[in-house]
Amino acid sequence: MNSAVMETLYFDNAATSWPKPAEVPAAMERYLSRIGASPGRSGHRLSLDAGRVILEAREAMACLLGADDPLRIVFTKNATEALNIALQGLLNPGDHVITSALEHNSVMRPLRALEAEGVSLSVLPFSDRGGLDPGEIRPAIRPNTRAIVLTHASNVTGAILPIAAAGRIAREQGLVLIVDAAQTAGAVPIAVEEMGIDLLAFTGHKSLFGPPGTGGLYIRAGLEERIRPLTRGGTGSRSEFEEHPLFLPDKFEAGTPNTVGLAGLAAGVTWVLARGVEAIRAREEALAGRFLCGLREIPRIELYGPTEPSQRIAVVSFTISGLTPAEVAQGLDEKFDILSRPGLHCAPAAHRAIGTFPQGTVRFGFGPFTREPEIDTALEALRTLAEGR
Ligand code: ALA
Repeated sequence: MNSAVMETLYFDNAATSWPKPAEVPAAMERYLSRIGASPGRSGHRLSLDAGRVILEAREAMACLLGADDPLRIVFTKNATEALNIALQGLLNPGDHVITSALEHNSVMRPLRALEAEGVSLSVLPFSDRGGLDPGEIRPAIRPNTRAIVLTHASNVTGAILPIAAAGRIAREQGLVLIVDAAQTAGAVPIAVEEMGIDLLAFTGHKSLFGPPGTGGLYIRAGLEERIRPLTRGGTGSRSEFEEHPLFLPDKFEAGTPNTVGLAGLAAGVTWVLARGVEAIRAREEALAGRFLCGLREIPRIELYGPTEPSQRIAVVSFTISGLTPAEVAQGLDEKFDILSRPGLHCAPAAHRAIGTFPQGTVRFGFGPFTREPEIDTALEALRTLAEGR
């Protein structure tokens, strides 16, 4: 790392986490330099080693999510692909789906495309502090409701949604609960069984500290039979048949996998498990609390999302009156070497809901590597910008 990079304050962890634990690039380098082979295909020792890398990633993810069988974890290239498998694979014309106004385009765009094909949609309103009132779910259920699709936490307001409450309703009504955990896997404790989650999409490159190009879908036992795969092809299994296998994980993992990425993901998840998600959550909650406290003391700043750090992840959105979010982020970058993300964060529905469409907000995302003095430096920089100095 050169000194210029060392001085940069990176607060864009909600987009992708950085830096990564040293174990992550080391595991990827080890795979590329010492293994390199394709898993589950050739049967030679390097191919078997590559298979072990993937099994390790699957086992680590199952442990993180509280899933009893690692084969219920299907790897994809990102959370978006996992959500597309869940939504396009499960829903049929005539089905009704309940979702929230806080969803990312990775949920909204597939749902809007399905709507054009005859799936109907109820979009629940956000609650006053940018979350979701679980009392909104039950009245939205119709005889043809098939699924509830919710983000675990908004990538705009940071609000944590009441997934366990949604899970209880889904189980009671025989609905499928699909959860987008892009912002929470590794940052907020998740127990798929206890929370009544049927399908959970995760990304590898945020709070799991893997590289971009990794993600996956947890599939509850038996549900795989009701989901069509997006892609079919070689799996290294049952190669004598021209029909694609129907068992997990092969049904949803056609083609040569991203073994180098999954080596990094396994190392990232192992790092998270060693620290403990509860401990990471406590630290991130404290960091968000410190930032929120400081922001409240700066004139002209409007904050969005829950006031209580316990009700949100370490993602904080705000605006400064008189400046566009793009101007604020550019000022932070160019004058203070502070990196944030302005705009709509690929979640226009959420910005419409909180009244910040079309300019969006400035968003800070913290992670386990964020230090308190860095937050104080950012607050000073924001005060300077807000006061027009
Ligand atoms: N969905 C990611 C974000 O919120 C990329 O920034």
